Amino acid sequence: MNALTPFAGALPLTADAAPLPPPGGAAIRFDAVSKRFPAKGGQAAVAALDAVTLDVAPGSITGIIGRSGAGKSTLLRAINGLDRPTAGTVRIDGLDVGALDPAGLRALRREIGMIFQHFALLSSSTVFDNIALPLELAGTPRDEITRRVDELIELVGLVDKRGRYPTELSGGQKQRVGIARALATRPRVLLSDEATSALDPETTRSILALLKHINAVTGVTVVLITHEMHVIKEICDRVAVIETGRIIETGDVYEVLARPQAETTRSFVASVTGAALPEAFAARLTPHPEGARQTVLRIVFTGANATAPVISRLSRSLDVDVTIIAGQVDAIGGKPFGNLIVAIPARPDVVDAVVALTGAHGLQAEVLGHVT
Ligand SMILES: Nc1ncnc2c1ncn2[C@@H]1O[C@H](COP(=O)(O)OP(=O)(O)OP(=O)(O)O)[C@@H](O)[C@H]1O
Ligand SMILES: [Mg+2]
Repeated sequence: MNALTPFAGALPLTADAAPLPPPGGAAIRFDAVSKRFPAKGGQAAVAALDAVTLDVAPGSITGIIGRSGAGKSTLLRAINGLDRPTAGTVRIDGLDVGALDPAGLRALRREIGMIFQHFALLSSSTVFDNIALPLELAGTPRDEITRRVDELIELVGLVDKRGRYPTELSGGQKQRVGIARALATRPRVLLSDEATSALDPETTRSILALLKHINAVTGVTVVLITHEMHVIKEICDRVAVIETGRIIETGDVYEVLARPQAETTRSFVASVTGAALPEAFAARLTPHPEGARQTVLRIVFTGANATAPVISRLSRSLDVDVTIIAGQVDAIGGKPFGNLIVAIPARPDVVDAVVALTGAHGLQAEVLGHVT
């Protein structure tokens, strides 16, 4: 594709067509994308993105997790062309975002909705008018705007707030307006930049459930960035972990939660899977087995084996005393998943037997350390 190819030709714009067909999700492909902010006024240059290669499947909910400054927002902004990469290409359904002319970019942005942590609503406009804004900008006829906005207000559960102003809404309600506005032009992609970070846990859950519902009924591809693993666990199918501009791990959410590889991923995962040791206990752990009384193991329960009665079998068939220190049993995407941290006598033959028996049940056991 070149700059002369109008984006509208490749992705039909549906905002002014009636009746409106449902959108299909778009596939997004990052190919060796780098973004360097040059040095300025004594500040060193920043490599915000460093050769990022990543595929987002159409219709998926893909999460990108990373610490503050990791490059998440820069990555998201490369999708709608708000940030131009210094190297590499971003393609949406095969269309090179960097090759678009201004008209192509405007058309692209109607296909990409975005929601933010701080909602970005117009304070002097009602709920209805905030949601209508992108349709007005797209020149949609008035009666069609009314129909579409009312449909969206119902979708996000704000029928009784139609004529209210943002200051009269709770945070969760404001974010519902933000979501409705982002969906107004029936985008194929919905980008979420920390959309739940300003909300309390219960409101966060309801907003995440709404995003999941919207993904299921419209097929819109969702890319959400967050620094919280529980957000990923709650609604994402796929996850990518970003650290100092590089993607250090990607995969199916269940796989990454069950078997995190990179150290950063492990620490994100520990916060939601019960894989973390209580701090006071962690301080007592030593890597040296000599003279230890107990050995501490993490047993990870996944898949079909997640419900195996392994603890009772350990004590029965090996005659081992098992002390449970921490644990959590859960479901991720409907599949059982658990993490149990246990202490057993620090004898090499006992530890080997326990690891072998858990392995025979299809579970993983990992020695975390020893306690004297
Ligand atoms: N316009 C800019 N000029 C210079 N440096 C920038 C600019 N925008 C971002 N950066 C730098 O690029 C890096 C990545 O920033 P980015 O905003 O993508 O991080 P983030 O992962 O979204 O962080 P947060 O979770 O805090 O929002 C940071 O080091 C940031 O300081
Ligand atoms: Mg950010």
